[in-house]
Amino acid sequence: MNLGIRGGELLWLDSVHSTNDHAIALAEAGAPSGTVVAADSQTGGKGRLGRSWHSPPGLNIYISVILRPDIPLKETPLMTLMCAVEAAAAIRDRAGVDAGLKWPNDLFIDGRKLGGMLVESRVEGGKVLFLVAGIGININARREDFPRELQDMATSLLIVSGKEHDRGGILKAVAEGVIKGSGALERGGAGDILRLWKLMSVTLGRRVRAEDGDRVYEGIATDLDENGRLVIETGSGEAVKLVSGDVYLL
Ligand code: BTN
Repeated sequence: MNLGIRGGELLWLDSVHSTNDHAIALAEAGAPSGTVVAADSQTGGKGRLGRSWHSPPGLNIYISVILRPDIPLKETPLMTLMCAVEAAAAIRDRAGVDAGLKWPNDLFIDGRKLGGMLVESRVEGGKVLFLVAGIGININARREDFPRELQDMATSLLIVSGKEHDRGGILKAVAEGVIKGSGALERGGAGDILRLWKLMSVTLGRRVRAEDGDRVYEGIATDLDENGRLVIETGSGEAVKLVSGDVYLL
């Protein structure tokens, strides 16, 4: 597929185990920043925290972008937020659908998950060698295309808008947005990413339950700190800052 991605090169695969795994292998072999791996289907699509990502053919988009930004290690969580902001912007521009952002990595509509980000990094000597930004978005899947256990939790652009959307156009817009956003972060654009993320957030201001390993917190999600950590004010007057974990809106 030749989509002419600005600032990058696209490798299109009919089927792959995981576009993230494929992109990591290419990055380890020296592939340049801006290389995009996309596939029609994945046989071992990965979600966060060791989960799997439902990846049937012909319906959705699964892409991974190799990035080599010169950023401090502590800013890598901002990459996930940047990908979410850029993916939501691409969906708004290309499909006319407004998705909300649920911390840390979900595109959310009507309380259901439309898409997710999985950013993986290789770090050596405290320096980021490369990042692979993996993004999955449900585009033309109908309710019955999801396994039964996901049908009440997942959604797609087709389900929310009632019409089919052009996967290629959305894929190109997401990839270009992520490449541009990585450059902006490198040039000190963290403030803009955080501001945009907060504008699109469905998490802030909400009562949440957060699970981080065996720690569970309940409280109001009030803010993001400068490194993208979620600030939760718990009943005891304490503020917890979450680096990773699962957040449920109550
Ligand atoms: C999540 O919400 O848990 C993250 C989902 C990330 C899925 C995408 S699909 C493309 C890329 N390749 C993978 O194996 N995972 C990501």
